[in-house]
Amino acid sequence: MPRRFSFTQFASSPAYRELNRGFVERVIRGRGITSAVDLGCEAGAVTELIAECLPERATIIGIDPSAPALKTAERNLRRFDHLVTRFLRGSAEEVSQLVREPVDAVFFCNAIHLVKDKVRVVQEISRILKPGGVFAFNSAFFQGAEPQETLPFYRAWMFKALRCLRQRHGLAPRREKAAARIGLTADEYRQILEEAGFVSPDLEIAKVDLPLQTCLALTQFEGFIQGVLPGVPLRIGWKVLQETVRQTFEELNMRVLPRNWLLAIAVKK
Ligand SMILES: C[S@@+](CC[C@H](N)C(=O)[O-])C[C@H]1O[C@@H](n2cnc3c(N)ncnc32)[C@H](O)[C@@H]1O
Repeated sequence: MPRRFSFTQFASSPAYRELNRGFVERVIRGRGITSAVDLGCEAGAVTELIAECLPERATIIGIDPSAPALKTAERNLRRFDHLVTRFLRGSAEEVSQLVREPVDAVFFCNAIHLVKDKVRVVQEISRILKPGGVFAFNSAFFQGAEPQETLPFYRAWMFKALRCLRQRHGLAPRREKAAARIGLTADEYRQILEEAGFVSPDLEIAKVDLPLQTCLALTQFEGFIQGVLPGVPLRIGWKVLQETVRQTFEELNMRVLPRNWLLAIAVKK
């Protein structure tokens, strides 16, 4: 049973799984990886994709600040009994204190935009990698994630959501910007990687089409509701975002919402 306002519904959508599966396979293929850390593993959606690519007796360590998410991840990964799996509670900012043995690969999927001090986190990740080890992250929250032609969609959606919140619930979100909404550009990420000792980082942008069902699943994620409507109770925020995203798709006669995903792969010197 998925947790009510978790990421699980969005992470199970075909568009999300396909993008992350392709990314994980590309990172692991041909690199002889036998140890990996999945930072910000949540309930293990990407951890499972990594596990599917690893050879017998390889080690995979899932790390997340959320204890309930880790519990679910541990349960979801039980079927990989040919691997050594470990789950640790903690955050990216202190990962070098959690992982003492350097590993071949660190994944930080769909989460790096949530951290405030990205320079510190990339340096921490470098510390737990072997020389020649690979750091891979992806994110749909960076400067450039919203294709120009989708800006009217976001404006219309937010206008409707704020109006519905005010008229129906007498509420307004707090005036604050979540870390995810202060996105870096791909070039800023490249610079952070190079300064932390990664060579020739490979940064690519993939366009993904999100159907309405996938957008509806995203409106159920606590982090998304709080990022878009800070301070609004989750249940109300979810209902408002769900209703208004439907209306906006319909009004603009859309079948899918295109979104850019930044995919980054960098090797430690
Ligand atoms: C959107 S989910 C992504 C889950 C998974 N990596 C995926 O791609 O499906 C973001 C996860 O990052 C975790 N997170 C948030 N801040 C973090 C931090 N500072 N260090 C590590 N993980 C963090 C959250 O608890 C959450 O589980």
